[in-house]
Amino acid sequence: MHTPDLNLARKRTNNSVETINFCFNSDLRGIAKDKKYCLKTYGCQMNEHDSENIKALLEEMGFKESSTMTGADLIILNTCSIRENAHNKAFGMLGRIKKIKESNKDLIVGIMGCMAQEEVVVNEIMNKYKWVSFVLGTHNINELPNTIFNLLKNNKLTIEVYSKEGEIVEGLPSVRNNKYKAFVNIMYGCDKFCTYCIVPYTRGKQRSRKKEDIINEVIDLKNKGYKEVTLLGQNVNAYGKDLNINYTMSDLLQDVANTGIDRVRFMTSHPWDFTDEMIDVIAKNDNIMNYIHLPLQSGSDRILKLMGRRYTKKEYLELYKKIKEKIKEVAITTDIIVGFPNETDEDFNDTLDVVNTCKYDSAFTFIYSPREGTPAAKMEDSIDLKTKEERLYKLNDLINKYSLENNKKYEGKVVKVLIEGVSEKDNSKAFGYTETMKLVNVSGGIPSIGKIVDVKITEAKSFSLDGEII
Ligand code: 5AD
Ligand code: SF4
Repeated sequence: MHTPDLNLARKRTNNSVETINFCFNSDLRGIAKDKKYCLKTYGCQMNEHDSENIKALLEEMGFKESSTMTGADLIILNTCSIRENAHNKAFGMLGRIKKIKESNKDLIVGIMGCMAQEEVVVNEIMNKYKWVSFVLGTHNINELPNTIFNLLKNNKLTIEVYSKEGEIVEGLPSVRNNKYKAFVNIMYGCDKFCTYCIVPYTRGKQRSRKKEDIINEVIDLKNKGYKEVTLLGQNVNAYGKDLNINYTMSDLLQDVANTGIDRVRFMTSHPWDFTDEMIDVIAKNDNIMNYIHLPLQSGSDRILKLMGRRYTKKEYLELYKKIKEKIKEVAITTDIIVGFPNETDEDFNDTLDVVNTCKYDSAFTFIYSPREGTPAAKMEDSIDLKTKEERLYKLNDLINKYSLENNKKYEGKVVKVLIEGVSEKDNSKAFGYTETMKLVNVSGGIPSIGKIVDVKITEAKSFSLDGEII
């Protein structure tokens, strides 16, 4: 039994990172072939991609997927810690699962993902949710088959969470959710330690994958017919810094573009590590999408400093301007937090000011949520929730205004769209995304599913576009 340890999770050393090659234990293949699993995923793309690995491991063991929890022999929550409401969702779900467990004593219930890495959460599970079968951390997904094998024999609470800095596990299988677009991890963890953020504790030290492993994965995906890859990491622009080799994110982007895959994008960027070389590489390669997610968090220098973001409003705006000038028709989106401890009206107005300058294509906006163990959680906060909510509404109104304005510029234009499937709202249409990550509902698009086609935009809305195949 290994339980999480906040102090260990906080630590960073220069120890080199080991790469482990995963090999599925053939004794476990097919052992659960009459059993079903239900996997619930919360949070970011990193978790979504982890779930693709979890699914593949379970399916190699023989488990079949169940869309409902009631029909399942195994329920796994792949959890998120980023804000309090993500916690609440998972604990709310545990309340529902408890009832199912009461009528099915053999049900195996597992907690994975970021919440599994939190000392406070695991303590709560050990005290109040003793009926949970296992907690497995983000560093050792590879141990899932063995953990379940042991639980099938003896369903007793197992906690295997490592807070040490983590290794890289290569060769995990994956059942991908999308046939045309794939996530490719390029790095794990984060060393930025923004003061509000729990990720450096739950995901560990920054560990970049070897470039050869990344490029081979992209080539393999291309050969399998994938059209788009998203290079994933908490702070992808810092790729390679931990490898002590003279090879950076701009080199990696160029090498991935050289594979000839139709579309390449990446997320998430930290403005501090965004170099001119990266901008040049994006600008000169047609298959690197002209879409950049550039988290602002706040427009106030005072708050940015308290957040530990390492840039000022002026520096952010300079970077924004450079990106806009050099990358043709680029779309820029962002993340913004309102209500950081003691954010004043003046601070908030600085954020609005940046939004009015950048006129983002869209933004994810959040009310600050204190995360236990982070430096910001210790800051006293004199701002009441009502004020924070009012700021969020005001900010969202402004963001939506610019989203619509940006979308309107597409009306009458012909753009390339990767058609992904039948539209949920109107099944006579298909849906897909432009190179700038705009969602388009396409008349006459269904026969083109899986292809990148020219679409004429007929109408713009705040959150999507309508178009027709030409
Ligand atoms: N409270 C609110 N939002 C947060 N984010 C990260 N940590 C917190 C927090 N404690 C937001 C940031 C980040 C995005 C993924 O989530 O905006 O970019
Ligand atoms: Fe969190 Fe900052 Fe790292 Fe992003 S860069 S994951 S906000 S600590």
